[in-house]
Amino acid sequence: MTQDELKALVGQAALQYVTPGEVVGVGTGSTVNKFIDALASMKDQIPGAVSSSVASTARLKAIGIPVLDAAEVSELSVYIDGADEIDSQGYMVKGGGAALTREKIVAAMSRRFVCIADESKMVPVLGAFPLPVEIIPMAAARLVRQFADLGGLARLRMKDGKPLVTDNGQHILDVTGLKISDPLAFENQVNQWPGVVTVGVFAHQKAAVCLLGTPGGVRTLNF
Ligand code: 5RP
Repeated sequence: MTQDELKALVGQAALQYVTPGEVVGVGTGSTVNKFIDALASMKDQIPGAVSSSVASTARLKAIGIPVLDAAEVSELSVYIDGADEIDSQGYMVKGGGAALTREKIVAAMSRRFVCIADESKMVPVLGAFPLPVEIIPMAAARLVRQFADLGGLARLRMKDGKPLVTDNGQHILDVTGLKISDPLAFENQVNQWPGVVTVGVFAHQKAAVCLLGTPGGVRTLNF
């Protein structure tokens, strides 16, 4: 099976976590796009979705699913999103699609995070994928030095020759060279640094379930 087919498999499998009659939280990325495509089959059964990005909002609306403002919803039963890395405890690195801040907000609104991923995302220790960090632009140089003190190399994410601007009007640093053996402590530490909007370690908002796409089918991991 191709990686694309594995993504479609878990996107379809995630439908079992969508409760008819309830608003669903929707993440961002190529795996979530497969989930949104599958969700079209349930669009008459749900009142709508809370979305984590401009891109997902556009895709949801295109298939006729109403997108609600986060402020209109007090709690979501489930949030479905992909990951760049996930470990055996459900801790994740996210933000490859630059949507990490809104993803963390919608995850925090939700009782259960269901991660959908192909098996290439499963890692023993977080940190091989460059860690995305959304930052306030004026803090960039200082934050690059702070990551260097931890042994990381932080680079500004670029798009079309200019710093990428997120849906929130901020920039992204991608940090390589880190080995994140204590994700909770790392998230706490980096979140304290002035100028960090969101660090892409999802430890406080870890997955409760991971639907992992493998050539043998979907493996369900409960954390
Ligand atoms: C976007 C994310 C995505 O969930 C993550 O990058 C995985 O994306 P994909 O499903 O395309 O591999 O965090 O900010």
